[in-house]
This record gives sequence, C-alpha cells and structure tokens, in this order.
Amino acid sequence: MKILMIFGTRPEAVKMCPLAIELRKHKEFECKICLTGQHREILSQMMQAFGIEADYDLEIMRENQTLNMITSSVLEKLDPVLEKEDPDIVLVHGDTTTSFAAALASFFRKITVGHVEAGLRTGNIYSPFPEEMNRLLSDRICTYYFAPTELNRQNLIKEGIKDNIFVTGNTVIDSFEYTVSPDYTFSNVMLKDLDFQAHRVIPITAHRRENLGQPLVNICNAILKLASMYKDIIFVYPVHPNPAVKDTVYDILSGLENVILTDPLDVFDMHNLLSRCFLVMTDSGGLQEEAPYFGKPVIVLRTETERPEAVSAGTVKVVGVSEENIIFEVSKLLNDNNAYEKMSMSVNPYGDGHASQRIADILLKTISKS
Ligand code: UD1
Ligand code: UDP
Repeated sequence: MKILMIFGTRPEAVKMCPLAIELRKHKEFECKICLTGQHREILSQMMQAFGIEADYDLEIMRENQTLNMITSSVLEKLDPVLEKEDPDIVLVHGDTTTSFAAALASFFRKITVGHVEAGLRTGNIYSPFPEEMNRLLSDRICTYYFAPTELNRQNLIKEGIKDNIFVTGNTVIDSFEYTVSPDYTFSNVMLKDLDFQAHRVIPITAHRRENLGQPLVNICNAILKLASMYKDIIFVYPVHPNPAVKDTVYDILSGLENVILTDPLDVFDMHNLLSRCFLVMTDSGGLQEEAPYFGKPVIVLRTETERPEAVSAGTVKVVGVSEENIIFEVSKLLNDNNAYEKMSMSVNPYGDGHASQRIADILLKTISKS
C-alpha cells in the first residue's frame, strides 16, 4: 500500500511525524511524505526534531501569503507529485489550507483521501477562519476519517457522514513519548536558567488570522499590564514568524524585565515548558490539547473552540480577546488558589498515546483489504 502523507505547517507536522514514524515501521506500507512548505523555518524545526526526511518539499511559502496564494500554489505544485507517485491513499491532517488544498488536488486525481484529526467543529465558519471551512470541505472530500474523540465522530455523523469513521485519539499525545523528560535541559538560551521553583512561568502563543490587528493588540496590552501587576511571574512568549504577529508583539512587549520574547521554540523546549509551567495563555489549537495533559490550566484567547472536551473537563477556559477579561481571568488563577486547583488537573480526553498505531492498524486491516 502506497501512502502519501501531505502536510506543510508546524501543527500538522507535530501530529503527522509520530504517525510517519509508525507507518514507516511496517513493511506493508510504502510511506512517502510531501511537504507543501506553507511554513518554512518552523516546519523544518519540527521535521528535524523528529528526525524525519521528506521526499518532496514544494516550498510555497511567501511573506504575507494570502489564502488564495497558498491554495493555488498547492494545487499547482502538488499535481505533478500526485501524478508521479499515484498513491493508494493520501493522508492529510486537520484544518490548514495545505490540508484542504491537498485533499482537493487528490480528489481531482481520484485518489482516496484519509483525514487525520477529522470532525473538529466550532459551528462558526468565520472562527477560526478559515480553518472551520477548511475542515468542513476536507471532510466532504475524504473517504476515511480518523477522529480523535467520540464527540468528533458525532460531529461527522450529524453532517451525514456515516461510513469509515474511526475514533483513534489524537496523535499529538503520541508525540510526548519523543519530547518530554523530567531531567530535560532547555536548548533555548533564554530558558536555560529559568527557575521554575522560584517563579511561576506562563507560556503564551497567539497567531490566529482572526486575532490579527486589534484582538492581538488587546492580548499584548493585557500581557503588558499583567507583567507590571505581577513582577514575580515570568511570561514566555515564543513569537510566530508571521510579520503581522511579530511586529505587534515586539512593538508592545519589548524590553520588559519579566517578559521573555523569543523565536519559536523547538518542540522539545515547548513540550517541556508546558510540563513545568503554571498556566498557559494561547489561541493555538494544539496547546489546548497538550497543556491539559500536563495538568496546566489553559486560558484560550479566542471566542470559540473546536476542542470543547477539556473545557467540559474544567481545565480550559475560553475567555475571548478583551483586554479586561484576559487580565481578570489570569489574575483569578494567580490570586485564588482554589480557582487554580479546580482547573489544574491532569485531563486527557485526546487519547492514550497509541493513536498512530491505531491508524496504522486500520490502514492495514480495513482499508488495504477494501
Ligand atoms: C497557519 C494555519 C493555522 C495554524 C498556523 C500555525 C491556515 C489557514 N492556517 O496560519 O491553522 O494555526 O499556520 O502556525 O493554514 N512564516 C514564516 N516562517 C514560517 C512560517 C510562517 O516566515 O516558518 C510567515 C510568512 O510570512 C507567512 C506568514 O508567516 O506568510 C503566515 O503563515 P501562514 O501559514 O499563512 O499562517 P496562518 O494561515 O496564519
Ligand atoms: N509549538 C512549538 N514551538 C512554539 C510554539 C508552538 O513547538 O514556539 C508547538 C506546540 O507545542 C504545538 C504546535 O506547535 O504542538 C502548535 O502549533 P501552532 O500554534 O503553530 O498551531 P495551532 O495549534 O494553532 O494550529
């Protein structure tokens, strides 16, 4: 069975690499990887961390790329790869424009597509934008659905998809086996000497397209105020390379004693930071799955989430993007031990760390025989 995995961004890579490692263990599979290169540095950082070499890199990334640019470049540059490789199945992941465009390009060549991390929904096509539409469209195109949770399966069923949905867990949990260890030493010079006993540390990430502009300004202003209200807290913000993010963040938050602004962390640093921090502030999808695993409360800097499982469990709170509300919710957790304890429990609705094995098994036993 010839499998072509296609991905191109950091969040896809962290979840597809453990699966690639698993698939490449099986002699029944010929597993090739095509990177679209929607991301460059932060994607190669991830590939290096997992020690995985891709067979193709379409290198499409441009500064300030629009969604139409990404989509058309993927459609154009992927086609010769699909023609040459002619795989039995293409695997795409999640909700990026790379995944949707790769699914569409495969469909145009009548190649079967499997969707890893299928079935996540907010119900609002503008939030997250354009990811909600990307995953809806990908799920129309795909034949096989690897849903992380039962709730994700139900979302697909509600949309009339009945066959070939497999609840597998999320492969991001599998990645911890490679990344986290109790005696880990940080490679980033700014984190090397951080004393997690002496200081409460708050990692922050924010980069979503719908947060660019005023919402990101609000988020940064909230961090600015929190940093001056709580001088003993260390805020660690690895800044996304998108100039629309970087310019705003460095403009508002540079030069503060207790705010560390760094380039993106490699995934080893990031996961070990999550395992040792106090709480997390983020608009990322992946961090909402990762931090609860380590029992760290997550303040979600968005108005909606497609990952309600950890919200229901109590470790994730969606607080929106108003400056006052962010300050209020973070302050509550910093000042009120009971509120903190309530949120800080290890919750992991996203699987047992064997999602990749499960997907390999399904490909082997179910799909290759059909
Ligand atoms: C994309 C995904 C989003 C995901 C995010 C993760 C879509 C529609 N969105 O965001 O779901 O959460 O990636 O990071 O697919 N850049 C670099 N170097 C890099 C990566 C990006 O310089 O390694 C800069 C480029 O100038 C690029 C810009 O960042 O133009 C934005 O990258 P892009 O992939 O378009 O970001 P989003 O669509 O915001
Ligand atoms: N991540 C990382 N270094 C960073 C920021 C994030 O390794 O500086 C990891 C993070 O742990 C998670 C993934 O990247 O596994 C999330 O990617 P991102 O925030 O880019 O996308 P999203 O999850 O929002 O789609």
